[in-house]
Parts: sequence; C-alpha cells; structure tokens
Amino acid sequence: MSIAELKAVANAIVAKSKGVLAADESSPTIKKRFDSIKAESTEENRRRYRELLFTTDEIERYIGGVILYDETLRQSTRDGVPFARLLSSRGIAPGIKVDKGAKALALYPGDKVAEGLDGLRERLAEYKQLGAKFAKWRAVIEIDEKNIPTAFGIRANAHALARYAALCQEVDIVPIVEPEVLMDGAHGIERCEAVTAQVLEAVFAELDAHCVVFDGMLLKPNMVIAGKKCPQQAGVAQVAEATMRCLTRYVPAAVPGIVFLSGGQSAEDATDHLNAMNAMGAHPWQVSFSYGRALQAPVLAAWKGQESNVAAAQKALLKRCRLNGLARDGKYTRAMEAG
Ligand code: 13P
Repeated sequence: MSIAELKAVANAIVAKSKGVLAADESSPTIKKRFDSIKAESTEENRRRYRELLFTTDEIERYIGGVILYDETLRQSTRDGVPFARLLSSRGIAPGIKVDKGAKALALYPGDKVAEGLDGLRERLAEYKQLGAKFAKWRAVIEIDEKNIPTAFGIRANAHALARYAALCQEVDIVPIVEPEVLMDGAHGIERCEAVTAQVLEAVFAELDAHCVVFDGMLLKPNMVIAGKKCPQQAGVAQVAEATMRCLTRYVPAAVPGIVFLSGGQSAEDATDHLNAMNAMGAHPWQVSFSYGRALQAPVLAAWKGQESNVAAAQKALLKRCRLNGLARDGKYTRAMEAG
C-alpha cells in the first residue's frame, strides 16, 4: 500500500471547486432513468449517453472523479477511446462501483446488507488494469417507524464496508465508503441524525479495526434530512447544521473529503444544502459532492435520447457542475438557477 499515492488521488478528487459525478447506475437503475425519458436501454444507448456526459466541455473544472459501472469502464467513445483513458486525459479520475447491491440480511427481517466481497480482490486487480483509480461501495440503511435498522444490521454493513475499503487500499485504489441512510419514509430529521450518528460511529470503528488508512479514503454519506414523506421538512440551514454537527462528531479529521450523495433531493436542494454547509466556515475535511441524480436529472430531461439534444444536455450538465463548484465555496445562490 502506498499511502502517498492514495492521499494524492483522494485529494485531487476533492480539490478546490471539485467533486464527483456518480455515473455508476447499474443496468436495472439506468433502465429506470431511461424509461422516464422514453429512451430504450440498449448497450449502445447507454454508451452514447455516457459519452455525452464524459465529453462535456469544461467539466474538469468542477469534476475530479467519475464513478463508472462495470459495463461503462469497458466502453469507449465512438472514436474508440476507452472512457477511462478519456477521463484521465482530462485530469478526471475514473472510479468503479464494486458492490453488487443490497440484499435482505438473513434472519434480520427488514435489514439489508450490500453483497460483493467474494472475488473482490481479483475484480479490483482487473479494474486497476482498466484504469480505475478509486472505487465505491454503497451500503443501504433503511429507516422504518419502529426498529429498522437494527444495531446488527448497521454492524453487518459497517463490517462489509471496511472489508471492501481494506481490499481497495491493498492495491492503492482509493475507497469511497458510502453508508447511505435512505431518505424514504416518514421519519423526522432528528431520527435521521440519530441513525446517521450510529452508522458513522460503527463504520469508523470497523474501518479502524481493519487498518484502513483514513487519509487515503473518502466518505460518501447522506445529508441529515427529514424523510420524504415526513410532513415537517427541515429548512436549508437546519439540514446544514444537523449534518455538520453529526459529521463533526463521528468523522475523523484525517479523512480528506466528504462527498455527499444526493439521495433523491432535487438538483437545486442538493446544491443549496452543500452551499450552506460550506458557508458555515472551514471544516476538518473538504465538503463536496458525489451526486448522481442531482447532476444528471436535468441532463436526462434535456437529452430525451435524441442526438439533436446532445448540446442542450451537455449545457445542463455543465450548469449543474458549475453551480455545485460554487457551492463548494459557499458562493451559490438560488438566483443563479435562472442564468
Ligand atoms: P444519488 O446522488 O442519485 O443519490 O447517487 C449517488 C450514488 O452514487 C448512489 O450510490
């Protein structure tokens, strides 16, 4: 393991004004996204869409890394340039999603655990050859009205995240550790904060036990936010304060960056929340983004699967990247959405 190399890659991904574009939708997930714009999810259409994203002019000013799916890491532009090579040549680190999705946790009805550890060492070796500089593993934590997640459900996910992170660092791939407390449900912001706290505490205890070097990883958490079905939604300042309070308590200062997921927030809300957190002042880590839907929803809506809409779709992507780049500095305002 080269801690210097891990640190250099992690720091470059969250350099000033920069964050991550999560374009690692699995085939079933991208099909859902394509269904919503009435585009067919063929391998060639997925390739065309990802080419649109990765060839957008100037995104390298705001994007330090792109997370790819297995299929995408093996694909190329229409001119035959592998996507990983294209991104690297633009100064953007290519990354790879390596978990195989959340499955029911046996004997714990309601809890889920992400699978994909078997054979991961071999898969990472291949992904490294294909150009991946970092990886991502997403653990999904659902909240219900009563006792989900259980303490054991949290522990099982934390353990798997730490096994994954150690395997990544063994071969100098930066692990993005993603414990996502879902915003589905009717719970209030207080319950989200309590569960997120438990999850982060368990995750860092396991990472430590597995000898993962905090300086050579990135954390991709949820923001602390009320459930989507909760009648009482928190304001921007409340979300920013609760999220920073929770992370300051549980995330070691040695971690170079926090890259939030958007989790179903609107593109504007995700930018606003990121901005408010950065406007609070200096934090121990870079406070950045690793958005999927909050970067891509406007792009898909503009593209609609049509070649004639590529320029408009790229414009929509650059706009979201630029506004989130400003939010990295606390310099975004809602009024900028009109521009
Ligand atoms: P969202 O920003 O759409 O939540 O996606 C981020 C991600 O990578 C989820 O694993």
